[in-house]
Amino acid sequence: MRWMLVAAALVGSMGGVALADEPAALVSGAGADVTGANCNACHTSDYIVMNSVFLTGAQWTAEVTKMRKAFGAPIDDATASEIAAYLAAHYAVAAQP
Ligand code: HEC
Repeated sequence: MRWMLVAAALVGSMGGVALADEPAALVSGAGADVTGANCNACHTSDYIVMNSVFLTGAQWTAEVTKMRKAFGAPIDDATASEIAAYLAAHYAVAAQP
């Protein structure tokens, strides 16, 4: 039964995102501007919001690396650290025990 509740919660929280007409605006805070400038070049920030229900801070760091290494996002190390810190602070779930 428990898994059904979890699934319902995920569908519920993602529904609003999927139905929104406009791409999600990023939460303001240190690093928001640099994240928007570098992470909206190929896709909207909906990708960040949608994945915020799954990813931990460490996984966001890996995600930023993947965007750079696998998809060729032109982001330098310092900027990548700033973006990863911003995502960890605003769009991460707690690490699973
Ligand atoms: C050079 C183009 C490009 C840039 C810049 C870029 N992405 Fe992506 N991103 C992609 C592609 C390509 C995919 C996967 C294909 C798809 O689903 O559209 C993707 C997918 C994603 C996903 C979905 C999960 C996944 O791994 O497929 C997330 C989350 C994401 N990007 C976050 C980011 C963040 C955060 C940044 C800024 C650091 C960023 N992206 C910058 C090209 C880019």
